[in-house]
This record gives sequence, structure tokens and C-alpha cells, in this order.
Amino acid sequence: ALPDKVKIVEVGPRDGLQNEKTIVPTETKINLIDLLSESGLPVIEATSFVSPKWVPQMADQVEVMKGICRKPGVSYPVLTPNLQGFQAAVKAGAAEVAIFGAASELFSKKNINCSVDESLQRFDEVMKAAKEAGVPVRGYVSCVLGCPYEGKVAPEKVAHVAKRLYSMGCYEISLGDTIGVGTPGSMTQMLAAVTREVPVSALAVHCHDTYGQALANILVALQMGISVVDSSVAGLGGCPYAQGASGNVATEDVVYMLHGLGIQTGVDLSKLITAGAFICRSLNRKTNSKVAQATCKL
Ligand code: HMG
Ligand code: MG
Repeated sequence: ALPDKVKIVEVGPRDGLQNEKTIVPTETKINLIDLLSESGLPVIEATSFVSPKWVPQMADQVEVMKGICRKPGVSYPVLTPNLQGFQAAVKAGAAEVAIFGAASELFSKKNINCSVDESLQRFDEVMKAAKEAGVPVRGYVSCVLGCPYEGKVAPEKVAHVAKRLYSMGCYEISLGDTIGVGTPGSMTQMLAAVTREVPVSALAVHCHDTYGQALANILVALQMGISVVDSSVAGLGGCPYAQGASGNVATEDVVYMLHGLGIQTGVDLSKLITAGAFICRSLNRKTNSKVAQATCKL
């Protein structure tokens, strides 16, 4: 059975923009986040407290956090790879953070410069500080359906890392198909392994659409009981440490599908399309959302 309601986690301002070659003005990022807030999205990942040498696009994280207009009831989590990032995030007013690990050793090394085990030790430190500060922590697992450096990733490895993050106290684990190679077949197998270790109510899927499989993958995840979906307005983005990976599935397309299934999201699709049009205009590019393309021709 499908869920009645789905929580959409909008990752466009972070996952979408982190990969842009030219630096997006801080004001544009703030305007985007504020427009997304107006559309009824419950969660908007705002920025990352990562090294500016690694991801220059996120170097204005403090200004973004200070500049956004926080809508009551909306949360604005940020990525924090280590204690240094966590402390900076809290200082800048973040009320929720996310730690991000991987099911692949080589990706972990390229993305956060440490092994999977070392990353879990760092995350433990973040988790302890977060518990003291009363800050909820979300956990990501990347490369759950394939790795740009290692190829196939075993569902058991994903389940192991997801379980570790859940055991250390993450309230939700987002399973990332970082390079968008998964299919409904591999998604089903991976989720079967992960749901043996982590309750399905604590899982989210995070699909990139490189191979055009994202909506199909999300649909099978919903059928398996998942009710949290990450997506990016206008289908922006990609990961700077996963060459060739396209953006996340477009939020507009996910909302259209969910509403068509009779599933509530709380999101106003036309306001969402407005937010997508704003960022595409600002970046001078065409939207990756099929729904936005179709509706602007009507
Ligand atoms: P490192 O070089 O090993 O760090 O990087 P270090 O601890 O050795 O420190 C080196 C320098 O970095 C020092 O500065 C530190 O102060 C600084 P220096 O003395 O040289 O001037 N530093 C920091 N600066 C700001 N914020 C921090 C921080 N920590 C250290 N938090 C590090 C390790 C994790 C910092 C680095 O590898 C990094 O920033 N990586 C981030 C990569 C990233 O953001 N990737 C994209 C997000 S993940 C993703 O997109 C996947 C996802 O969407 C899910 C999916 O699709 O699968 C989530
Ligand atoms: Mg991603």
C-alpha cells in the first residue's frame, strides 16, 4: 500500500547549487530558499558547512543562514561533515544538521577525504555534540545503488552503514543514488536489505535522475513503505565528487506524481514552479523538470 502523505525534503539550494561552476550570488540563494518556503515544502536543505576549498559554491553558508526568512514549521537543515562544521552551523543558527557517509570506500575518500570507518568516528563526535545541543541529525548514505569509482555496491554494505547511522541516533537515513544508476530492480533489492536493519519509517530515498529512472525508483520505494523523498527544484545539481552525475529528480515532477497518486505533500505545485522558474532564470538555463517544461507551454 502507498502512504497517504509524503514528506518532501527539498535539496536544491544545497545539492542543486553545490555543483554550479560559477558562484551563484548569495542573494539569489536566499531568494530561492524564501520562494521554496512559500510553496509549502516542510524541509529545505539550505547549505553546507564544508570546506570552501572543497566546495567553493557553499562558502557563503553563514550569510545564507543569516539572510533567509525562516517560515514557522519549515526546517532548514545543513550538511556538517565534522565537528568543525557542526560548531560553525550551530553558531550560524542551524537548528538541524545532516551528516553524510557512503557505502563505498573510494567515494568516501574522494568526497570527505577519509575511509567509511573514519567517517563514522567523526560522525559520532558530531552526534554527541548534537545531542548535547538538542539538534536533530539526519544521516545520508551515498552510492547506495552504485559508485562512480567502485561500480556495483552490495546492498549489505548499504544496510551496514545505514544501521550504524541509525544506531548512533540519526532520526532519518537518506539513501542516495548519487549517480542515478539504479533501477526499480536494484532499488527493491537494496531496500529489502536496508529495511531488515532500519525501520522503514526512518528511511528516505534520494534519487538522481542520470539514467531517467528516478521517478520509477521512487515509486517502488513508496510501494515498499517509504514516505520521505528528497528532490531538487528544477532538477538542479549533481555532486562535485561524482563526475557525470546529473541533478536530483525534479521536485515539481515528484509532487505531480504524488498528487496524481492521491498522496498529500502540502506543496503548492504552481508556487513550486515559480521558484523553479526563478532559479533557472537566474542561472540562465533550462529547467530539468518535465512538469515545468510542460506547464509553461500550456
Ligand atoms: P580535509 O582536507 O581532510 O580536512 O577535508 P582537515 O580536517 O584535514 O582540514 C583541512 C582544512 O579544512 C583546514 O583548513 C580546516 O580548517 C578546514 P586550513 O587549516 O587548511 O585552512 N576544514 C573546514 N572548513 C570549513 N568547514 C569544515 C571544515 N573541516 C575542515 N567543516 C572535509 C575534510 C570533510 C572538510 C572536506 O573533504 C569537505 O569539506 N568535503 C565536503 C564535500 C562535499 O560537500 N560534498 C558534497 C556533499 S555530499 C553529496 O552531495 C551526496 C548527497 O547529496 C547524497 C547523495 O546524492 O548520495 C548528500
Ligand atoms: Mg545528492
